[in-house]
Amino acid sequence: MEKIFVTHKIPEIGVKMLKDKGHDVEWRNKSELLPKTELLKILGAGNYDGVLCLLTDRIDIEVFTATPTTKIFANYAVGFDNIDIVEAKKRGVVITNTPGASTESVAEHTLALLLTLTRRVVEGDTFVRNGKYQGWDPMLLWGVDLLGKTLGILGAGRIGAEVAKKSARGFGMKIIYHDIVRNEKMEKETDANFLLSLNEVLKQADVISLHVPLLPETKHLINAERLALMKETAYLINTSRGSVIDEVALVNALKKGIIRGAALDVFENEPVLAEGLKNLPNVVLTPHIASATAETRNDMAKKAAENLIAFFDGRNPPNKISI
Ligand code: GLV
Ligand code: GLV
Repeated sequence: MEKIFVTHKIPEIGVKMLKDKGHDVEWRNKSELLPKTELLKILGAGNYDGVLCLLTDRIDIEVFTATPTTKIFANYAVGFDNIDIVEAKKRGVVITNTPGASTESVAEHTLALLLTLTRRVVEGDTFVRNGKYQGWDPMLLWGVDLLGKTLGILGAGRIGAEVAKKSARGFGMKIIYHDIVRNEKMEKETDANFLLSLNEVLKQADVISLHVPLLPETKHLINAERLALMKETAYLINTSRGSVIDEVALVNALKKGIIRGAALDVFENEPVLAEGLKNLPNVVLTPHIASATAETRNDMAKKAAENLIAFFDGRNPPNKISI
């Protein structure tokens, strides 16, 4: 029986799995974020063997130093940029994530954002609610069709490939993409064209959708120079991590009409937004909910618990991060 700390309210199924396995679970069953100082205090005093943490918990050298007994941190997320995995490796601490759980939900949310943006759903909703709707008007709130338009995918992993598939098959979009490795399966399924030059994808696409992990190499991948390469009519969608975009540069590009619009589910300094972002009419903003479906959020809890259970059973956790 191992001592496990769960840092936040998550779907109960994951906690139940750990308890059913006989583990001694301390569950901070609260939705308020755990400030770093409190996290350090709790973990430092608890002598935990394992921790189930969130993407909002920064697991860095300070935390590792305060938790010499903790052998595993199971992240409740597919992304793990909140964890210093190099330091974890040095100390022999195991890190796991929840890949695959959110592929469908994030892809679906990406398409929800795409349509909301191109069909001006939020603007239309606000218009009606504000009592401005005076009757059918042939010139009112035009958007654009997706059929035949070019979608540029940056990052063709599971989620990027699923967005490509749905967009190609569902809406008849042409797919171009860039990644550090080619995804031949996606090319077969969607007729996607791999472009060796990321900048070329930016120049050719009508819509750019970001699906890369946040790494030192992908921080501000979309900056002022790259925004300037995009078509003036292009849209940018981000359901990956906020810091992949230089958010201040994006606000500027949207203000100046360098691109037509953007839809963001993630932000550089969540929950704070870059100045001016929320006043722009050509953006759609959601609060990091791309994976927020009942199916996915429950599955993430199960996957995180399974990783801990496997580890403490002496097995290799199914989603161990290896670097
Ligand atoms: C959510 O952003 C995740 O990484 O699962
Ligand atoms: C990550 O890219 C995933 O699809 O889980």
